[in-house]
Amino acid sequence: MIQAHGGKLIQKFDASVNYSNIKKEIELDSFSLSDLELIGIGAFSPLTGFLGKEDYESVVEKMRLSNGTVWSIPVTLPVTEEKAAELVIGEQAKLTYKGEVYGVIEVADIYTPNKAVEAKKVYRATDDQHPGVQKMFERPNVYVGGEITLTKRVKHERFDSYYLDPSETRAKFAELGWKRIVGFQTRNPVHRAHEYIQKSALEIVDGLFLNPLVGDTKSDDIPADVRMESYEVLLEKYYPQDRVFLAVFPAAMRYAGPREAVFHAIVRQNYGCTHFIVGRDHAGVGDYYGTYDAQLIFSEFQEGDLSIQPLFFEHSFFCKACGNMASTKTCPHGKEDRVILSGTKVRQMLSEGVTPPPEFSRREVVEVLIRGMQKVHA
Ligand code: ADX
Repeated sequence: MIQAHGGKLIQKFDASVNYSNIKKEIELDSFSLSDLELIGIGAFSPLTGFLGKEDYESVVEKMRLSNGTVWSIPVTLPVTEEKAAELVIGEQAKLTYKGEVYGVIEVADIYTPNKAVEAKKVYRATDDQHPGVQKMFERPNVYVGGEITLTKRVKHERFDSYYLDPSETRAKFAELGWKRIVGFQTRNPVHRAHEYIQKSALEIVDGLFLNPLVGDTKSDDIPADVRMESYEVLLEKYYPQDRVFLAVFPAAMRYAGPREAVFHAIVRQNYGCTHFIVGRDHAGVGDYYGTYDAQLIFSEFQEGDLSIQPLFFEHSFFCKACGNMASTKTCPHGKEDRVILSGTKVRQMLSEGVTPPPEFSRREVVEVLIRGMQKVHA
């Protein structure tokens, strides 16, 4: 089995921690709660806590932790200036969400980030129309760094059986006898292009780990429960049951394009994947990134920096002249033969009850999406 990034799968969950004497308290937002959980279960290995200043600046500038390990997205704990003034370096604070304690942090650092630099370097965007940049600026202005302990697991009411920790997915892959496993990140329903690149990858590995992100997303993305239902109907009818494993990735979406593709790959390594799919404009939004920037970024690394192997796919679509799914790499025909719809266009069609063509999306998926979107707009 592939090792976790950095060599060791981090496990920081301990429900027996007695925090009754800890007076200080930091109230988390849903974004930080999700980060806390993902650090605690080892999905963010080798991180053992929220980044301190030195690691933060190194990640922003160099895509590496201060010890040189590749890490592309700053995982930070923002607090208000008033809260920061209450905290003391060297002391502990409880981490709460809606009043309940979920963890403890050993406060090691309190610092004010240069968010304009973070926007430029991490998001490659400076305007706050970018949803990731907007979110970053909306959140408080002081960051707290330090090791955490996760003391309580987040209760997930929806699709509970699809929440697996990295230690559990690793055990599952071993049980299935899979050695080469390709991870697939998605925040969208599975359309034919997704299915095509997943199955193309599956031709050369043992198993597909379908790992939709279900944490915070921007408001016009298709809701996670609708997406989950679409995956279920699709898997049931069109995928070999013994070659696909579906579990959720409870992270918030950053929309950081190239930087997030690297982060998504590393995290899937922690879940036990050996390969990771990076297609067209991975984790992108609007036209902030070039179509293949999220692939090109991987060439910035040296041999040995990353153990997981990215698998790159060109823009894929159904071509009427070819009579099958193809990509810009394999299809000689022109635009007029290609069935290509933007995400925005598809969402608009679905909310109006208009059916996208079967070359774009399977009928079973479309039915789930139309029902789901009508509920959202009801
Ligand atoms: S993402 O934000 O999670 O990247 P999405 O769910 O649309 O968005 O994409 C999941 C994965 O499929 C990404 O690796 C993306 O690059 C890839 N992808 C999406 N659509 C296409 C397409 N038409 N052709 C090739 N790759 C695609």
